[in-house]
Amino acid sequence: MTDLSAIEARYLNDVENAADEAALEAVRLAALGKKGEISELLKGLGKMDAEERREFGPKLNGLRDRVAEALGAKRERLADAAIEARLAAERLDVTLPVRPSPVARGRIHPISQVVDEITAIFADMGFSVAEGPDIETDRYNFTALNFPEGHPAREMHDTFFLKAKEGAERKLLRTHTSPVQIRTMEASSPPIRIVIPGKTYRQDSDATHTPMFHQVEGLVIDKSANIANMKWVLTEFCKAFFEVPSLNMRFRPSFFPFTEPSMEVDIQCDRSGSEVRFGEGTDWMEILGCGMVHPNVLRGVGLDPDEYQGFAWGMGIDRIAMLKYGMPDLRAFFDADIRWVEHYGFRPLDMPTLFSGLSS
Ligand code: DAH
Repeated sequence: MTDLSAIEARYLNDVENAADEAALEAVRLAALGKKGEISELLKGLGKMDAEERREFGPKLNGLRDRVAEALGAKRERLADAAIEARLAAERLDVTLPVRPSPVARGRIHPISQVVDEITAIFADMGFSVAEGPDIETDRYNFTALNFPEGHPAREMHDTFFLKAKEGAERKLLRTHTSPVQIRTMEASSPPIRIVIPGKTYRQDSDATHTPMFHQVEGLVIDKSANIANMKWVLTEFCKAFFEVPSLNMRFRPSFFPFTEPSMEVDIQCDRSGSEVRFGEGTDWMEILGCGMVHPNVLRGVGLDPDEYQGFAWGMGIDRIAMLKYGMPDLRAFFDADIRWVEHYGFRPLDMPTLFSGLSS
């Protein structure tokens, strides 16, 4: 009879040496497959006589069971090793920072942020927002605002004029947001309470001037609007905008064709340190122009100056943004440098509101 212990030793050795699941499967087929060596021996039991079968039956069954057990154990070990190898190869470095989502990466430009802050403050005082075109006519930008023909104030504005079409009026890029005062008064009737943020253009370029800049205009028209109301509105605005509990303002006489009287407003500040601080100190900084709407302007839009009166103001947005957020060079606003926006920009979902804080 065949040497069963030699067969067993050979298969157990083959099982032990199988390097992967395919090699192990080959051993299983050779031993216990349909035509496997041990299967064939088991088939041979049928041809034996009772005596032989009694002797070899248990031996062959034992052989088959031990080889099958060794195969199973080895299969488990190979599977474990495969998982271990995968875990080792696919290790994640959990200390790497998570890549931020687009919402977390994107930034709101400081100008947009400041426009949102300004509209939040004035909305709280009952103002709505009005807008007008960047390309204006001479009438809206100058004449209706009481700039006389040939008056030097027109030259002061360094206007960009557009080439006129055959037989058509020459257009220009608006030099201030004031024309939207006229458009609003023509399109609606008092009481009017609006703020007008927008782009404005003048031929000027240095560290504090860019050919395109931003203004916000304000206009109040009703039967009793007066200078005291204007002073209160502007003071409340400046306190809210610069986020200080109190602030002194200085109103100096000035000239604008569309207001009478006209004033320029300085706010109290301290320039002794490295940055300007508002609401304290003994210095003054000019931040806006304002005045009572000129009777000629009211008449021009069909309002009777004996019945209606109002006040208006205009302010450079870029300048107050630079002041509030400590940005030294205006030109960087328009360089479209992603690093600058990442540094000075604001998170898109942090909308400025008076109750949750404007700039926090
Ligand atoms: N439009 C003026 C400018 O660009 C600013 C201004 C001054 C606007 C006085 C006003 C105002 O509404 O009342 O320089």
